[in-house]
Amino acid sequence: MSDAPATHQMDVPLVQVENVTVRRNRQDVIKDINLKIYPGEFVGVVGPNGAGKSTLVQAILGLLKYQSGNILVAGKPPMSKEVFGKIGWVSQAASHLPKNVRLTVREMVSLGLFNNTNWFGLGRSNTARIGEALRMVGIEHLESRDVNQLSGGERQRAVIARALVSGADFLVLDEPLVGMDRASRTSLLKLLDDFCHDQNKTIFMISHDIAAMRQTAHRMIYLEETIRFDGPPPNFPSLEELALLRGIEDVHGGHHYDHAAEHCGGGDHSKPVIGDSLKEAE
Ligand SMILES: Nc1ncnc2c1ncn2[C@@H]1O[C@H](COP(=O)(O)OP(=O)(O)OP(=O)(O)O)[C@@H](O)[C@H]1O
Ligand SMILES: [Mg+2]
Repeated sequence: MSDAPATHQMDVPLVQVENVTVRRNRQDVIKDINLKIYPGEFVGVVGPNGAGKSTLVQAILGLLKYQSGNILVAGKPPMSKEVFGKIGWVSQAASHLPKNVRLTVREMVSLGLFNNTNWFGLGRSNTARIGEALRMVGIEHLESRDVNQLSGGERQRAVIARALVSGADFLVLDEPLVGMDRASRTSLLKLLDDFCHDQNKTIFMISHDIAAMRQTAHRMIYLEETIRFDGPPPNFPSLEELALLRGIEDVHGGHHYDHAAEHCGGGDHSKPVIGDSLKEAE
């Protein structure tokens, strides 16, 4: 099922999702999800709009109930005391801040410390931690700036810094590249990759940018209601294959998904199965 590298086979997974189904509005939006994420992995999740990517993340974070199956984070149910504060979440809406809130970058980043059970005001070590997080994401020169006066990419970095000050080992990012220019995207991806390699942080990142994920993630997941591909980026369908699939989609008048389900509804995830609306996933 998972093509996780052999070196991980003996490790204890950080996240374990077993046969999970989540229902929203009386409809199953994700079904039979099976997934193990190992410490130090950089997992990129792609899939079209409405495919259930954010739903999966919210279930892993314990923000959304699942109808069946089981989820464990560090061996414990999500939202349990032991897990709380160990996950840094950068939500899809994280960078949309209310315009009437006046907050400097430093103040916003310091909010990440509220996750920390040892928070008793900004002691010296916390101040240093904020400085370190700002430096890590490369926005220390913006610390006194109002967050409403940041570019999309700068704001995204501030949100990531906020997740970092919590000391989280597991970073979950939902579309962090949106609104960033190419240079900012590249440097953010490099930064996240460094977190994995230098600090053994684990990254679970949703993005519509397949090309960026192919270049950066160590493992890619294609999710559309269920996991249809899970494996190393070189095995992910090429852009040519995707373009071809988009051509086929026109021929089938948008019913491509049914074919995919028919042909590939079994468990062989090493064979990619791509449904319709991939243009949105590009
Ligand atoms: N709060 C909600 N209440 C009910 N249904 C929801 C809610 N949020 C999302 N859904 C539905 O659940 C399904 C999966 O949505 P989800 O947000 O997980 O998709 P996604 O893959 O993250 O999409 P996108 O790429 O657009 O962010 C969709 O059909 C969506 O309409
Ligand atoms: Mg989403």
